[in-house]
Amino acid sequence: MAILPGSTLGMLGGGQLGRMFVTAARTMGYDVIVLDPDPGSPAGGLASEHLARAYDDPEALDYLARHCAVVTTEFENIPAETLAYLARSVAVHPSADALRIAQHRRLEKEFFRAQGLDTANFLAIESSADVDDASDFAFPAILKTSTLGYDGKGQVVCDRFTDLAAAFEQLGSKPCVLEQRIDLACEISVVLCRSLDGEVSCFPIAENSHANGILDVTRVPASISRALADKAIDAASRIADGLDYCGVLAIEFFISTNNRALVNEMAPRPHNSGHYTLDACVTSQFEQQVRMVCGLPAGSCRLHGPVAMLNLLGDLWPRGDIPAWDDILELGQAKLHLYGKSEARPGRKMGHINCLGATLEDAIVLLEKVRSRLSP
Ligand SMILES: Nc1ncnc2c1ncn2[C@@H]1O[C@H](COP(=O)(O)OP(=O)(O)O)[C@@H](O)[C@H]1O
Ligand SMILES: [Mg+2]
Repeated sequence: MAILPGSTLGMLGGGQLGRMFVTAARTMGYDVIVLDPDPGSPAGGLASEHLARAYDDPEALDYLARHCAVVTTEFENIPAETLAYLARSVAVHPSADALRIAQHRRLEKEFFRAQGLDTANFLAIESSADVDDASDFAFPAILKTSTLGYDGKGQVVCDRFTDLAAAFEQLGSKPCVLEQRIDLACEISVVLCRSLDGEVSCFPIAENSHANGILDVTRVPASISRALADKAIDAASRIADGLDYCGVLAIEFFISTNNRALVNEMAPRPHNSGHYTLDACVTSQFEQQVRMVCGLPAGSCRLHGPVAMLNLLGDLWPRGDIPAWDDILELGQAKLHLYGKSEARPGRKMGHINCLGATLEDAIVLLEKVRSRLSP
């Protein structure tokens, strides 16, 4: 039975992805209860109700289970036990198992390989004995912590084997994955949704550029061959099927200069590189998440037209000065989204702007105009 408007949905996590989910759900006539310990969380203020409690607070979880028809998440580092606990008394999508894999780089990469998919070569580095055993690995490589890394944090480049011991120490000697550095032609992502009965729908592939390990610009459509696009969509669908996934799932790929599509990582939730769907697609990734967890069919993923998304980081608020939004809002095809975060720190995601155009070139010209008007 589908969960229909008028029902209450639970959201674990109150960041910007939760905020945009709340907006989509409430637009459709649902109520949303957000659980996030931060009293000023971006999603909390827009939610029907905000529980400012810890993710493992049994009282808060029991409250969610009692009042919600289904619970979902916007943050992969919600303890998997929280989802497993909730799942005993309320529907939870995606599953605790999907989160457990997505939370851990080594498990994630082993899972991709088990699905028969290509990844960059990697090696688990979990002890100093593992460091000693890595002398045959193909350097240059990147050492990445297995848990809690994001936006390029928890990563150290190792140009040669002799850099590895210091890198492991720098990352706190915690379990890591050593990954071969790929010569990148480009990076792409597939954002898809999968329903309870296994129906998969993919948004158009996004092409992503990063600055300092953080997503900077997403362009759609991606400038890759049909063959590579088909390969990526097939790989992403196989991952979703392998997890028996329900919800929105994002898969990042490296496209190497020798034209291979290597699976990089996944996010068991809407993704920054899918924000373009808010203004450029029939259905946004957030509405799609509402539809999936409620047992409804997917909305159309069709693209209205080319789009380039610019991430807005806290660096645009030097000394707390507010950017000149009037100069941006004057541009009718630049769509501003701000996440309601009160404190702007360098590298912190504060919002994004979707730049629309008749052609992708027009959208990119507009994005560069927006960028220059915002530069502090
Ligand atoms: N093996 C690699 N080869 C080349 N570039 C990489 C590699 N690993 C990471 N990068 C670069 O760093 C970015 C962030 O790394 P990623 O593994 O996606 O971690 P996260 O997004 O969780 O911080 C990637 O999008 C890519 O630009
Ligand atoms: Mg990434």
